[in-house]
Amino acid sequence: MSDPKKNDDSDYETTGHSWDGIKEYNKPLPRWWVTVFYITIIWGIGYSIAYPAWPGIRTATAGVMGWSTRANVAAEIEAQEAALAPINDRLASVELSQIATDPDLNGFAQNAGGAVFRTWCAQCHGSGAAGAKGYPNLLDDDWLWGGTMEDIHTTITHGIRNTDDPDARYSEMPAFGRDGLLEREQIGQVVNYVLDLAGEAPQDPSQVSAGATVFADNCAACHGEDGTGDRMQGAPNLTDAIWLYGGDYASLHETVTNARFGVMPNWNTRLSEAEIRAVASYVHGLGGGEMSE
Ligand code: HEC
Ligand code: HEC
Repeated sequence: MSDPKKNDDSDYETTGHSWDGIKEYNKPLPRWWVTVFYITIIWGIGYSIAYPAWPGIRTATAGVMGWSTRANVAAEIEAQEAALAPINDRLASVELSQIATDPDLNGFAQNAGGAVFRTWCAQCHGSGAAGAKGYPNLLDDDWLWGGTMEDIHTTITHGIRNTDDPDARYSEMPAFGRDGLLEREQIGQVVNYVLDLAGEAPQDPSQVSAGATVFADNCAACHGEDGTGDRMQGAPNLTDAIWLYGGDYASLHETVTNARFGVMPNWNTRLSEAEIRAVASYVHGLGGGEMSE
């Protein structure tokens, strides 16, 4: 067996280096490889001159070709907007009631409205629009302010109880406990009455009839004599056991004592008229939409 450490194949040129009898051959890289290697370096330098490349502190070198992902995206968005301009113009200008009857317009509005909803509304109303405590469910036909296209359009345009739009929908339930309008005992009575009204078990049935009197005197003006609410004032229906702030004794007690003040932003300064109409169509189409008279 030959000694693997030894190489004395004298056909090859060596560098003259040798360790423990092992000589270093002089075998250069193939010429084609070296050529490609130098081409990549030249290519790299050329590329970094032509295109954005070298990072600076805030930006990178721009490159002589003037190519920019940002500008490309902006141009694409602009082209997209130009293509959609005619249908957006039509959406923004027809009668609200005509949107649903025009299949093209309605299809466009539903799609665009869904996108607006997911971007601007879902954080409060939930991605499926089912709402959360304090944020109404938009899937059902229980409306605070009304469920026709016109109602929904107004709600979205101006918002509710916000300070930015003077035309925002507004109403304010008094804080009966905090402001001393009702005694604690009366609040207990009216809460029992409201539970009874909603078809839920009162905590103390003996207080229901006294609660009815408190209700007639203090609450009926907004919530209606029969408790079914008043959309002019955004006063919820209290008979349907659908609760915005919770329907257990403690939540109702809190509502009557301190009142709630649900605020929704106005969208007329953030969204275009076409976007507002699109999202109004979308919400109207979620299931609870009502026909206008
Ligand atoms: C910051 C939270 C917030 C955002 C964002 C928000 N809303 Fe609301 N929205 C509310 C609250 C709170 C109410 C209920 C106010 C009240 O008590 O009257 C409401 C009420 C509504 C109502 C009235 C429901 C009824 O029963 O009459 C509609 C319709 C509505 N929102 C649609 C939208 C749409 C569409 C968007 C997105 C463009 C949106 N909201 C974004 C908080 C929000
Ligand atoms: C000035 C009108 C007004 C009066 C008077 C009034 N409410 Fe209200 N009430 C409202 C409004 C508006 C809301 C919705 C508040 C919100 O969304 O922020 C509301 C909400 C409620 C809720 C919450 C319903 C839910 O779905 O969670 C209850 C319960 C309630 N009121 C009970 C009463 C009782 C009981 C009285 C009488 C002691 C009363 N209200 C008097 C306007 C009124």
